Amino acid sequence: MRGVLLHGGFGTRLRPLTHTGPKQLIKVAGKPVSQWALEDLRDAGVRDVAIILGELGPERVVEYYGDGSWLGVRITYIYQGYPYGLAHAVYIAKDFVGDEPFVVYLGDNVLVEGIREYVKRFADSDADAMVLLTWVEDPRKFGVAEFDERGRLRRLVEKPKEPPSNYALVGVYFFRPPHIFRAIETLKPSWRGELEITDAIQKLIDWGLRVDCAVVRGWWKDTGTPNDILEANRLLLDYKYRETVVKGMVEEGARIEGRVFIEEGAVIKSGSVVRGPAYIGRNTVIGPSTYVGPYTSVGDNCRLVNVEVENSVIMDNVVLEDLGERIVDSLIGANARIKRRDRRPRGMQFIVGEHAAVEW
Ligand code: DAU
Repeated sequence: MRGVLLHGGFGTRLRPLTHTGPKQLIKVAGKPVSQWALEDLRDAGVRDVAIILGELGPERVVEYYGDGSWLGVRITYIYQGYPYGLAHAVYIAKDFVGDEPFVVYLGDNVLVEGIREYVKRFADSDADAMVLLTWVEDPRKFGVAEFDERGRLRRLVEKPKEPPSNYALVGVYFFRPPHIFRAIETLKPSWRGELEITDAIQKLIDWGLRVDCAVVRGWWKDTGTPNDILEANRLLLDYKYRETVVKGMVEEGARIEGRVFIEEGAVIKSGSVVRGPAYIGRNTVIGPSTYVGPYTSVGDNCRLVNVEVENSVIMDNVVLEDLGERIVDSLIGANARIKRRDRRPRGMQFIVGEHAAVEW
């Protein structure tokens, strides 16, 4: 089975973090969101993957993943550019998939329990398509499923005002060519101006083809807000790091509590406490006198000195120094520097990017 990983779109709601690249490259619990997806594909035996690139920093995606060999996959890049819709993104992978069955994975989706079981189920079936569903509190911002009396899929609607059920479409889809491509060829842009994959699958149902569904647990969908990133971070720290691993160094007088993952070259200095679940990136120095609290991920090459931070995601190359207050529920972008000023005149000096939010 082949894989198609969607890495395009706009990412506007995550500015300023997406000013320099696509949202799928934002690191959550130590890895870009799309890397978690790519590893899911690989772990399910899907080794040939096309990455669909958008207009926003496509070269950064290519630079990061390369040919994929370091992850155990073979990557083909396909440039989409403007985001005309999920169905459009799938259509441009037509030559890549040929006549093999394939799985489409939205690069901003995280399924904490992976997709192995579903890849197998689809491979063993002769269905034309299979969708994954999950129960959500408010389905209006998703594709939503309606079932018939026998519990089979009757209809799929994209972002309905009045959802027919609480079962939302998860961003992982399975297809067996050629019908899906025929269906996409018949589509017209939706009210949001996109070619919707939901409408294409509805066509398959209308044509009487077999569309299976399966319900998943532990799904997270990035709707593009910082809060969602924090939630994904919590979920991934809980599920993907099941035990304490210390590849770096914990100095005498420093304390590690709970499940903590410390990468190579990282140092936890004396007088500091790291309380898991937490992730500390490569060559990052924590301390002295620093507290990293539960559900915090700190990126590579950061320096945290005399600060307290909790339930936050800190990207690479960040410096936090001598802050009098605890940092909570925060997202701090790469290369940011926040420190208490020790010279006069006293006062706070900010040089923050567009769309940044600072609350005190
Ligand atoms: O996440 C699940 C939801 O994903 C489903 O419930 C919906 O049925 C489905 O339409 C989709 O909805 P979204 O509105 O959330 O999709 P979004 O525009 O956020 O795009 C999802 C991913 O695909 C994102 O990583 C960006 C990428 N993308 C998107 C478009 C429109 C592309 O690569 N190319 C595109 O043209």
